[in-house]
Amino acid sequence: MILIFLGPPGSGKGTQAKRVAQKRGLPQLSTGDMFRAAITAGTPIGLKAKGFMDQGALVPDEVVVGVIADRIKNPDCASGFVLDGFPRTIPQAESLDKMLTSSGKSVQGAILFDIADSELEARLSGRRTCSKCSAMYHISSMKPKKDGICDQCGGTLIQRDDDKIEVIQKRLKVYHAQTSPLVEYYKSQGKLKTINAALAPEKVESDLLKAI
Ligand code: AP5
Repeated sequence: MILIFLGPPGSGKGTQAKRVAQKRGLPQLSTGDMFRAAITAGTPIGLKAKGFMDQGALVPDEVVVGVIADRIKNPDCASGFVLDGFPRTIPQAESLDKMLTSSGKSVQGAILFDIADSELEARLSGRRTCSKCSAMYHISSMKPKKDGICDQCGGTLIQRDDDKIEVIQKRLKVYHAQTSPLVEYYKSQGKLKTINAALAPEKVESDLLKAI
């Protein structure tokens, strides 16, 4: 099963992709996590991506498509995967379709995480992420048991550089200009399902599991 989680920054794609991927035994492929890991490791791709990410802009299509093309060749992707944050532009979606068609595969569904922009600022500015295992928390809606410490691995919780207010606003603009056209792209293929991402995480998860 190949699924795409589509939605604005902070809509909960990463939170739900981790849960669904674990429940369905599929890898979660987050291009944002891949770039952050590359930045930490100081690889050439990380160095290329950092400037764009810090400004809330998209990393160029050819870089992102190359990263995904390599990743989906791994044996763990043979029975499917959950794409979290990819594709983000029409050319990325077209490249993905070409890649999959050439290996006799296709996207089963694109899930749109529907939520008003007004909800997202508080979600993003309060987000904390584990520096070791990338588990996600929120300072008020998903608190860790111990302040600043990951429940799952004991790692330190950090705030992402692009979760500053001015960068959040830029990311939302970029989403509406460059990523939202994908809604029509998948709708016209009969693959789009929409869920209400403003509900509590457990309700979003159960709606999502029903939708897929
Ligand atoms: P990326 O890491 O993908 O960021 P994003 O898409 O902006 O999404 P976020 O991770 O910010 O939000 P999310 O929807 O996953 O929400 P989350 O579950 O964390 O990308 C970062 C950057 O990398 C991009 O800006 C770009 O530069 C680059 N990039 C990545 N992919 C690219 C691509 N394909 N092309 C080009 N460039 C690319 O939740 C957010 C917070 O809300 C958390 O604190 C969480 O605990 C909380 N929360 C979640 N669900 C709920 C709920 N139901 N109720 C209340 N709180 C909730």
